[in-house]
Amino acid sequence: MNAKALILAAGAGTRMKSDKPKVAHEMLGKPLVRWVVDASHQAGIAQVVTVVGHKWEQVNPLVSADTTLVLQDRQLGTGHAVNVAREVFEQLDGSVAPGSLVVLSGDSPLVRPETIRAMIDLREQTQAAMVVLTMKLEDPFGYGRIIRGGDGQVLRIVEQKDATATEAAVKECNAGLYCFDTQALFEALSQVSNQNAQGEYYLTDVLEICRTQGRAVIAHVTDDPTEALGVNSRAQLAQATKVMQRRINRRHMDAGVTMWDPDQVWIGPDVRIDQDVELLPQTYLRGKTIIGSGTVIGPNSRLTDTTVGRDCIIDETVAQDARIDDQVTCGPRAYLRPGTHMCTGSKAGTHVEIKKSTIGEGSKVPHLSYIGDTTMGTNVNIGAGSITCNYDGVSKHKTVIGDDVFVGSDTMLVAPVSIGDGAIVGAASCITKDVAPDSLALERTEQREFAHWASRHMEKLKAQRD
Ligand code: UD1
Ligand code: CA
Repeated sequence: MNAKALILAAGAGTRMKSDKPKVAHEMLGKPLVRWVVDASHQAGIAQVVTVVGHKWEQVNPLVSADTTLVLQDRQLGTGHAVNVAREVFEQLDGSVAPGSLVVLSGDSPLVRPETIRAMIDLREQTQAAMVVLTMKLEDPFGYGRIIRGGDGQVLRIVEQKDATATEAAVKECNAGLYCFDTQALFEALSQVSNQNAQGEYYLTDVLEICRTQGRAVIAHVTDDPTEALGVNSRAQLAQATKVMQRRINRRHMDAGVTMWDPDQVWIGPDVRIDQDVELLPQTYLRGKTIIGSGTVIGPNSRLTDTTVGRDCIIDETVAQDARIDDQVTCGPRAYLRPGTHMCTGSKAGTHVEIKKSTIGEGSKVPHLSYIGDTTMGTNVNIGAGSITCNYDGVSKHKTVIGDDVFVGSDTMLVAPVSIGDGAIVGAASCITKDVAPDSLALERTEQREFAHWASRHMEKLKAQRD
């Protein structure tokens, strides 16, 4: 395969009604243009060029790591956008080299690597000047129409605004995904004019030029019209997101993941899930999250860049940059912030927040606690409502808790502080000094008791009232 890719991402996307350039909008947490770049690489194309223009300073950082950038100062149409990239290809190879050039739109994020591959293969086998992907749509409004002759041969592509009533009635549309013979493309582009309803240089005019030169042009009809859905508005962004959500969820279900209702599960493209995982409604898995076999996630859980081991129960949990080992229980309503490491068999229970802390094997933080900047040993029990006071208003300080420590309810551990192995801290203590192993630490006033005080007190109050 001798193919490069060119991604058009210079347009403003006015119909998005946004300060952000269209291709920077995200679908399942990934910018639209990134989906297209990744699909190109996955198709096996190493050399990818991106045409940027409108608000390029917001687009560049998204693609500069693995594509070559070229600036289209003024957006004079898709044909013009391809033409400004000509010099990049000349620089890369000394002149426009033979081979295939796949042209994709940065606003068509649903394109599959397999389809890109199939188009390259088709062009290489046929040596056609151009392979264009087409689709039949019930409502083709807005798309360029594929005009075929009596013999079924494609003659040209007509844009919506230039179409006659008969042409507009054609349901076969240009998906905006092409594989060109690179040299034929740039030769034809020099003949494209902007004499049309929009005053733009249309890339689509290349088709007719190649044909009149006697070169073969192939229109390849896709069996999946959702693949070429272009995102021009927020409604189409939602539509595309739905298609990708279903595609990703289907892949995971085929690989052995249970979902009660796949419409209520959102999984990012880079998430990895083992078989026999169960995802309950309102689950969001984002970033580079990994889920191990036998684990149940949800309902109402959002995990970002988090690794979860096997056989865990993650119920109503929000986690970010956290590491969860095997057989861990979280929630309902746990919040695991960056740097949390839940070791095997540990628990973060109800209304528990943990940050930058290790919870040792078998240790439990079951109810209403905040644990921050803490290293906790094994088999520790933290009583309800206990908190590490890690912040003095200026700096954060560490708490170290040994193995087999029992911390009573409503305890404040004022950091920096350490609790030795096997120690017990009495409920409601405010611990400001280190506690030695195996000792009992208590910080509370002595309990006093006054016999028969309560009823006499009530009698007195009633007498005062009457
Ligand atoms: C284009 C096609 C249309 C096809 C549709 C599929 C043309 C003339 N029309 O229409 O036949 O059915 O895609 O989605 O090609 N861009 C630039 N520079 C420019 C203009 C556009 O980089 O000067 C980029 C845009 O950012 C976008 C892509 O090219 O990513 C397509 O442009 P857009 O204006 O969305 O074209 P459509 O009207 O959708
Ligand atoms: Ca478009």
